[in-house]
Amino acid sequence: MKKGRGKKNWTLAVACLFALWIFAQAANAKNADATGGMSIYDGEPTEADCRMCHDDLVSFPMLLAPNPDRHHALSTDCLGCHSMVWNEVLQADVVSSPRDCLTCHDVADIEGPPGSTNVHHQTATFAARDCGVCHTN
Ligand code: HEC
Ligand code: HEC
Ligand code: HEC
Ligand code: HEC
Repeated sequence: MKKGRGKKNWTLAVACLFALWIFAQAANAKNADATGGMSIYDGEPTEADCRMCHDDLVSFPMLLAPNPDRHHALSTDCLGCHSMVWNEVLQADVVSSPRDCLTCHDVADIEGPPGSTNVHHQTATFAARDCGVCHTN
């Protein structure tokens, strides 16, 4: 399930350009040491990459609450995020438990330098210029 958005065509065009740009950045990331790059993910971002920080409230107290709680504070429309899926064994629809961040969060929203659509650069920590909280390299 992807997030719904208005201005779809425009967004799609930007997303395509951005995808090309990301591709170029990925090549750069491999040379992070040589270029002084600030990549965090090793290749394509994975759920484990997200959990490294988002399940670690000790190192990242600004997250304020565990990941399920963050989501549950957003909406009480359970089925908006937990879709019903058919279970062969039970022969019934059961509530799914979504775990993989990347099925709902677009790569374009979690990757890219300041000024891009990366939400990490739209946070209070970024505004305070505390780059080292997330970038330890
Ligand atoms: C809340 C966490 C967070 C903060 C704070 C933050 N960043 Fe990032 N930044 C990220 C994430 C996540 C990425 C995506 C990493 C990747 O693509 O490997 C990223 C990517 C980048 C990239 C692109 C790296 C690449 O190789 O594509 C640059 C450049 C960057 N950040 C600079 C900064 C600077 C400068 C600051 C401080 C003014 C900052 N960031 C603060 C999380 C953060
Ligand atoms: C290096 C640590 C780090 C990694 C890796 C990371 N995040 Fe974050 N992320 C943070 C921190 C810290 C914040 C909160 C910063 C703040 O509120 O000042 C944040 C904020 C966010 C936000 C909310 C942004 C907002 O506007 O408040 C989303 C959504 C998010 N992350 C999703 C992800 C997903 C999905 C991944 C995996 C692809 C990921 N993050 C990887 C550290 C990280
Ligand atoms: C905005 C999306 C969203 C909504 C709305 C939502 N959930 Fe969730 N829920 C999630 C995500 C994402 C996870 C998994 C988080 C993780 O694994 O870090 C989760 C996890 C859970 C879990 C497992 C708890 C845990 O500790 O892992 C239960 C139970 C749950 N949700 C029940 C509900 C119920 C009941 C509602 C409605 C009152 C609801 N959810 C509404 C996104 C949502
Ligand atoms: C079933 C879909 C779904 C899954 C799976 C999911 N999220 Fe989200 N998440 C959402 C939605 C919808 C929002 C609200 C819109 C937005 O901010 O993108 C959200 C918002 C967030 C926020 C901001 C919360 C706030 O208070 O504004 C963070 C942080 C976040 N997600 C992190 C994660 C991480 C990390 C994972 C994986 C461990 C994950 N999400 C898995 C749907 C999901």
